[in-house]
Amino acid sequence: MTKPKIAILTSGGDSPGMNAAIRAIVRTGLHLGYDMYGIRQGYYGLIWGNNLYYDKNYNFFEKDGDSYYCIDYERKRFLAKQKNQAVKLYNQESTHFRYNNHFIKKGKFLSLDPQLERELEFTSNAYIHQLFQQSVDGIISEGGTILGSARCNEFKLKFYQKMAERNLQKLGIENVIVIGGDGSIRGALALSKLKTLKGENLKVVAIPGSIDNDIGCTAITIGTYTAVNTITNACNNIASTASAHKRVFVVEVMGRHCGYLAISSFVATGADYVLFAESGTVPQKEIKSLIGKIKHDFSLSRQKKRFLIIRSENYPVTSLELKHKLDRAFKNSALKIGVRVTTLGHVVRGGPATSFDRLIACRLGAASVYLIHQNETCKMVGWIGYGKFKRMKEDPGVGYWDIKHVLNETEKIKQNKTPYVANRNRAYHALGMLLSE
Ligand code: F6P
Repeated sequence: MTKPKIAILTSGGDSPGMNAAIRAIVRTGLHLGYDMYGIRQGYYGLIWGNNLYYDKNYNFFEKDGDSYYCIDYERKRFLAKQKNQAVKLYNQESTHFRYNNHFIKKGKFLSLDPQLERELEFTSNAYIHQLFQQSVDGIISEGGTILGSARCNEFKLKFYQKMAERNLQKLGIENVIVIGGDGSIRGALALSKLKTLKGENLKVVAIPGSIDNDIGCTAITIGTYTAVNTITNACNNIASTASAHKRVFVVEVMGRHCGYLAISSFVATGADYVLFAESGTVPQKEIKSLIGKIKHDFSLSRQKKRFLIIRSENYPVTSLELKHKLDRAFKNSALKIGVRVTTLGHVVRGGPATSFDRLIACRLGAASVYLIHQNETCKMVGWIGYGKFKRMKEDPGVGYWDIKHVLNETEKIKQNKTPYVANRNRAYHALGMLLSE
């Protein structure tokens, strides 16, 4: 008898701890009697399944039945009327082979003459493959994601969702676990509407994985505290050189729609100021009070040796603009205040997960499989947050919510309209300011 199958994909910006979650999912799934599959490169892997072929010149084709469809770099099939474009592309890549006469029209798309299959020495590029106990050995301590990740806008379109549906049906996969942020969870919702071979809906569970901590309902997303830790370590180093020169440092941290990384590391690093969009202050006024605080903190009455400003990526004044403003303000000051900028960028997203993220990832990973096993679908598991939620009976530290509700709450976080998150922002901000006096 064939076993039921669960596939896993990681999508969007990777985050430390994704591998720990993959390991937990694979091992829990195998333990409960599932065959486990990994999908490479997020939703692209799902769209391309095991049908992507390339020739010796690295021209890509999608195999569908006996036909090889010509595709462009964005992995879209060429329409028959785009023949000239396709010929140009394939011929410029091709050193030993000229495709001109070998394109044929198949439905509305361009395909290759099947006679050429042998000559082109096609190699297949499989995106969905089976995972075993040993496939996840040792990955708990690796950063990134062994499955690879991608931001795949195409998956918003029905055409590509149907391709994904076909690929999953071909392999008899009826359950999918998605690990990722906002866009990935939106993809999970679309996925849950696709059909299995039996005509039922796919069962889909999402796990919040993002360093930004910008997902609704859950208190924490996997990767956040590793990122805070990396920022903290970086600030330890910056603080020592800043103190040696009595300098102001603007340290820029990621967080496209959410300033959580900035405000939590403001407290954890013992920095002197934080700038993040959700504070809602008028930048001009804010910068004026920042300048006042720098002057006060470097004055004889306070004598700070350095001044660290954590600036969130989402703050409307860029780090360089800020540096120019500060340089101008201190140009004639007797204090001789120098200002430097360090953008931590992707350094913060990489590297192995800390124990806390691994622990949460293991628990959410296992819980996601239990939910599928209990016939639940269209849910997100999370680390107890706010509002009403159900607790996993296997692990009371883990809650779960309907994906639609999570997405609504996530939208509210972006607009700073969630009281829980707004209060948290205020509390961290006030505490950081108090502790930096
Ligand atoms: O994953 C979230 C995030 O790290 C944001 O904080 C940041 O703005 C974005 O990803 C960067 O994305 P990319 O790696 O695609 O440049």
